[in-house]
Formats: sequence, C-alpha cells, structure tokens
Amino acid sequence: MFTGKVPHIIYGGDYNPEQWPEETWAEDVRLMREAGVNLVSLGIFSWAKLEPRPGEYDFGWLDRILGLLHREGVMVNLATATASPPPWLAKLHPESLPVTRDGTTLYPGSRQHYCPSSAAYKECAAALVRRIAERYKDHPALAMWHVNNEYGCHVPECYCDTSAAAFREWLRERYGTLEALNEAWGTAFWSQHYSEWDEILPPHTTPTFANPTQQLDFRRFSSDALLDLFEMEKRILREVTPGVPVTTNFMGFFKPVDYWKWAAREDLVSQDSYPDPADPESHIGAAMVCDLMRSLGEGPWVLMEQTASRVNWRRRNVLKKPGQMRLWSYQAVARGAEGVMFFQWRASKAGAEKFHGAMVPHVKSEISRSWREVKQLGNELKKLDAMQGAGGEAEVAILLDWENWWALELDSKPSADVRMLEGIYSFYKLLFEANIPVDFAHPEANLSKYRVVISPHLYLVTDSSAANLNRFVRDGGKLVMSFFSGIVDENEHIRLGGYPAPFREMLGLVIEDFTAIPEGETERIETQDGESYACDSWLDLIHLEGAEVLASHTDGFYAGTPAVTRHAFGEGAAYYLGTRPEEEYVKSLLQRACREAGVEPPLEAPSGVEVVRRKSDTGSFLFLLNHNEEPAEVQVSGRDLLTDARRVDGVRIEPFGIVILEEQR
Ligand code: GLA
Repeated sequence: MFTGKVPHIIYGGDYNPEQWPEETWAEDVRLMREAGVNLVSLGIFSWAKLEPRPGEYDFGWLDRILGLLHREGVMVNLATATASPPPWLAKLHPESLPVTRDGTTLYPGSRQHYCPSSAAYKECAAALVRRIAERYKDHPALAMWHVNNEYGCHVPECYCDTSAAAFREWLRERYGTLEALNEAWGTAFWSQHYSEWDEILPPHTTPTFANPTQQLDFRRFSSDALLDLFEMEKRILREVTPGVPVTTNFMGFFKPVDYWKWAAREDLVSQDSYPDPADPESHIGAAMVCDLMRSLGEGPWVLMEQTASRVNWRRRNVLKKPGQMRLWSYQAVARGAEGVMFFQWRASKAGAEKFHGAMVPHVKSEISRSWREVKQLGNELKKLDAMQGAGGEAEVAILLDWENWWALELDSKPSADVRMLEGIYSFYKLLFEANIPVDFAHPEANLSKYRVVISPHLYLVTDSSAANLNRFVRDGGKLVMSFFSGIVDENEHIRLGGYPAPFREMLGLVIEDFTAIPEGETERIETQDGESYACDSWLDLIHLEGAEVLASHTDGFYAGTPAVTRHAFGEGAAYYLGTRPEEEYVKSLLQRACREAGVEPPLEAPSGVEVVRRKSDTGSFLFLLNHNEEPAEVQVSGRDLLTDARRVDGVRIEPFGIVILEEQR
C-alpha cells in the first residue's frame, strides 16, 4: 500500500476547482461521496492562480477547498502546480521559453512552455513548490504529491542557447575530455572533429543526417534534463514532508523519457492511459502499458488518468462503449493498479479540453450513462481491499531499453521501418492472446526470475547487457531474439567481429549481411516440417556456427539459408529470428519456447477473454475480463468478489463484463 492515508483502492481524478465558482464545490464533494471518490489530484494547472504576480501568492482558495475535501473524507494528491507557468514568467524571462529543433520558439497560451534547463523557470518553480509544501505539510488531507504533469509530453527537448550550454555541461560530465567525446562521436567522419567545447551544439536541423552519437547523447541529455527538474522538486518535498509519497504521471511507452531511470526515483509509479475505443486491439496495447508500469515500479502502481467517456485530441474522438470504461479499469487493477483515477473530475466549460470526457459530464447526471458507470465502479472498488499488495506472476519478460529504442530509430539505417514498439508488440500481442503473463525488463536487470526472455531488436547493447543475456541463457533460460540485435555499443559504434558479435557464440551463428525487404513485398520461409510461411521487412544472411535450423528461406539468392534458428547454449537455449515471419509462425515459436520452459497460462479461456492472476501471501485473485461483445463462459471456481463473495463453479461473463474470483488456497 502506498499510503496508510488511503487504505483502499484509490478512486478519483484530476480536480480543477479553480475553473468553477465556489458554489459548485459543495456539489462536487457531494457527488464525490456518491461516486466513492477517496482521492483527488488537486491544482495541477493552478500556478497562475496561486502566484498571480511574481512572489505574490494567493492560497486562500486552495485552503478552502482542501478544508472542504478533508471534512468530506476525500484525500488529496496535491500538485506542485509547476506544469504550466503563468504568463508573467515568459514576460519577465522570455529566454525561459522552449525552442524546437528548427529554431521555432514555443510561446505561452497553451501549457508546458518552459525550457527544461531554464534557470528562471527552475528558480520560480522551486520557490512555488517550497511555498506549497510548507503551507500544507501538516494538512490532514495531504496523501501524496503529484509533481508537475506528464514531463516532456509537449516539449521533450529544447534547442535554445541555454539548453545548448547545459548539453555541453552534460557532455563534459559524461566524457571528461574533448578527445573522449571526439572518439565516442566518431568525429573523424565528415570533418566533424571538435577543437573547443563551445563548438558543440545540439543536433539542430542539418543539411543531411546529423552525427548519430550526437543525436543519441542529446536524447540522453534531454531525458536527464527533465529528470533533474523532477529531482529538484522531489528534494524540496522530501525535505519538508519526508513521509509523503511522491509521484509524477507517466505516459506509457513514451519514447523521449527513460522511465527506468525515473521510476527508480519515485515512491510510486503512476500512469495516464487513453486507449482508442475505435481500435479493436487497443485493450492489448493498454494491457502492455499496465505491464510496463508494474515492471517499472516493481509492484503496484496507480492509473492516474483515463477518460470516463471520450478524449478531445484525436481527429475523431470515439466514446467508450457501455461497460468498456469499467472493463479497462479492471484490466489495470488486474495488472497491478491500486488506484483508478480520471482526467478529470468535472468537465470544463471553457478552454481547449471542454470536449474531453470527465467523471461529472456537462449533462445532468441523471441521464448520463458515463456518470452511472463512474458511480458503479467507485462503489465496487471498495470490495477489493484484500487485493492490495498482491503482485503478478510473470515468468516471461520482454526487454526494453530506452537507449536502444533511441539508437534503433535514428536515421541512416539498413531499414527505417524497424520500429521498437512494433517489434515489442508483435510478441506481446501473441502472449496476451495466450494469457501468458509478461513483465518488461531492462537488459541489464537481474533476469533470474524469468524462464523466457524476449529480446526484440536489441540493436544497442552495453558490455554488461550482453554479458547479462549470455549469462541468462547459460544458466538455463530460453531467449527469443529478433533481428538487428547486438549490432552497436553505447556509442553507436559497430561491434566488430561478425554480426551480432556479442551474441554470436550464444546464438551459434554469424550474419554475413542483412537486407531490407522492399515495402509491400514478402519472402517465404519453410520449417523443418515442410510448413511454409510468409516473412517481410528484413532478412539476415545467416551462416551457422552450431545452431540448428528451424526454418529456411525458399526463394531468391538466399534460398536455402537459415531464417530461424535455435541453439542450445549452457543450460539454456537461444532462438533467433533473422526475419519477420507472419504471426502464425511467431506464435508457434513462442509456444515452443514457453513449453520448453514450462510456462503456462493460468487457465484455458475463450478467445477475447483476458485472464490475469494477482497473488499475495494472503490471497490469490483471478480476473476474467471479457473483451467480446458477446457473453463468454469459463470453467473455473472460486468466490466471486464483486457479488458478495458467493462461491461459483463455472462463470458466465457478460459482454465487456468482468468476474473476479478469490481462489482456494
Ligand atoms: C493528459 C494530461 C491532462 C489532460 C489529458 C487529456 O493526460 O495530463 O492534463 O490534458 O491528457 O487527455
């Protein structure tokens, strides 16, 4: 449990009372009670109200709403309010505004208009955070801190002169000497050698491909610059309120920010989730994000934002169907969430988000289906107290390293179409459909608790991640690695010695060369049993060095060469996919690896029924989530937690319905 102050599954949302006259607040808290709300995130975008002029603070309204919430038993996830600076900051300090790669200044008038390295922003933000923390440190409603908001969502990097100077400082820290930097960046190429530190710039718009290591380092720097901002606020909060948990809301697989580094510095991980109801696979992507959050925080996390009905920022914003909001909320709980929150509590009547759904919609609550669902969910979640602290049971991990992701997707590659998330999803989807639980892991993490590790396009590997994967297999693990892995080191220099040099011995093969398969074209592979499958995207020219062939190419000048291999190595085995075969084939390969490793789903379920188990020392809970628009039946028994713990044998799950069973221990 994150905080003894909210001894239940957290339920609530972003609350922006500053957008409403105070008379509305009384209705707000009444409705919050009706909906079972126990926590609200307060004041996220209220800097301009709290500090209308530099150094002139107005906390009166915040005092009053905090008091009211406390009297009504609603706890507060208090924001540090630094996400959107007030207009006066840009007026006083125009240099605090961020600049894009092509030199465009981003002006005030929306939000997040600050350069992450701006001294003025940092100073003013730090002063505000200290004020808020000092003022409310003993407030009985204060349950946790919501630092800033979605760091980097609009401005993940800044190219202004201040950022350039901060980048150079960061580089000095990393490399110590210019010689080391020149070496790492490979500046002998294209006459890029630097003779003075101040010649170095961020990778602005350039005539053609910018130096890849410069680009990679700028990504590292930009992620760190945002992390420094978080750390700056956290230091103040720790000093003033040592016992109050600190979080900042993540955005799933958000490329610009290395969440492994961030999660390690948070007290709890929280996440904003907006799957598109128009996408029939969006619940799979959402599950993948939940698994990432549980993995990042190594345990329970909070769903900090979702919409009750619809967002406003897609081209066409589709409503969640009846039951879908509830179903997707339970999916998060099944996968480790101990809080279900929304953006936002009451739908705005003005501003850019007035068409975004909210717990309390514009229409009268009596006719609102989404409000009814919000109330139902809040009151149901109260029955799940026993769930708190229960974890997952994944024995399969998919590797994810932000630095690899950045490097993989830099320009000037054999193919621009090898994308990290597509690679991850192609495996995740099949495991999801088989109801096999999955964690995400950093390639340098301790992998010993996993039986199967999947390594999609692990292009950039450090010496220690290479050693780690070799060790994992040698010690008995089953590894499934896909093409374009083990190619460069952390400086984006080719690892010489035959591709993929650090994994050559483990995989029992060497790759002579690779070719992209032209867009829209496919090649064919044939398994040892004579089954034929299509493949596309990429093709490795593989020479065997001990591996066994599982499938070979049948056409072109590579006919007869290996496409998919398996190599027994130490106590374990490494599978290698030198191309992208169609789904059916990858499915059978994963089944084989899982079977070999003794990994099984919790139970057999009809297609479209998600089955997830959460377990603790005191209980085991089976979630059955029906993503179909028809009812589904599953043969399983246990105590039904949501229908007052009746014992059931065999369950029928309504369309978009859910059943949670407490299993016999
Ligand atoms: C993000 C932000 C919120 C809001 C929602 C809208 O998650 O954190 O402030 O803008 O998006 O979907």
